[in-house]
Amino acid sequence: MRTYNRLKDKVAAVTGGAKGIGRAIVDVFSAEGAQTFILDFDLAAGQKTAEQLQNLGRKVSFIHCDVTNFDSLKKAAEEVERTAGRLDILCCNAGIYPSAKLEEMSEADWDKVHNVNLKGMFLTIKAFLPLLKKAAPGSKIVLTSSITGPITGYPGWTHYGATKAGMLGFMRSAALELAPYSININAVLPGNILTEGLEGAGEELPETNGSSDSAQEAGQAGRSSVGGSLSRQ
Ligand SMILES: NC(=O)c1ccc[n+]([C@@H]2O[C@H](COP(=O)([O-])OP(=O)(O)OC[C@H]3O[C@@H](n4cnc5c(N)ncnc54)[C@H](O)[C@@H]3O)[C@@H](O)[C@H]2O)c1
Repeated sequence: MRTYNRLKDKVAAVTGGAKGIGRAIVDVFSAEGAQTFILDFDLAAGQKTAEQLQNLGRKVSFIHCDVTNFDSLKKAAEEVERTAGRLDILCCNAGIYPSAKLEEMSEADWDKVHNVNLKGMFLTIKAFLPLLKKAAPGSKIVLTSSITGPITGYPGWTHYGATKAGMLGFMRSAALELAPYSININAVLPGNILTEGLEGAGEELPETNGSSDSAQEAGQAGRSSVGGSLSRQ
């Protein structure tokens, strides 16, 4: 993989960075020279991804953390501050997408998806905002939303779609609040990407309309390892 050092001297943190899309983000950021922190609750996968990238000479560290737990996120922020002193880029990427049709969906199913995808994003930003302000002007927050919710729908994903659309509602007001500090907040809306999570869901792939990715225009899902240094295990 070619590197350009476009993120030299930058510090980044990626929630859900142990696997899937998050792992590909960590791969690209670290290849571009950023000191990158993986924040994930999968201990084994987080350690493994960090080790694989360290072996390629990248500045990557793993911090075990759960985005639904504010204390865990505060401790992660303290560790980033202790080791890197600042944070330039925060990617709120951790998310889950269990399927449940409306009639079978329990309140607990609904709450779980909201706790990880939407509240987890809010808690992550809350925990890391003081560090992002330290690196401002110019620090960035990037949310991993989805086409499902803001653009398309899919049976079994009403709760998921609500969280992904909710992320965009959050973003628009947060952008106005953070503008005085010159902190940007944006979102990416992926179509289907064949990650560990999507394959593990055992679902038929949802519609792929709404994405400009060339693989998806051909009616196929993308892959999170495309162009990356890490082959999926
Ligand atoms: N794969 C797709 O087709 C697709 C499409 C659109 C959007 N997305 C979004 O992209 C993001 C990543 O999806 P993916 O397909 O790479 O999933 P994945 O399951 O392959 O990876 C998700 C990562 O998040 C971590 N994670 C889950 N809950 C966590 C928690 N509470 N605290 C910390 N870490 C946690 C997991 O351990 C895992 O490493 C999600 O927000 C998802 O909604 C995925």
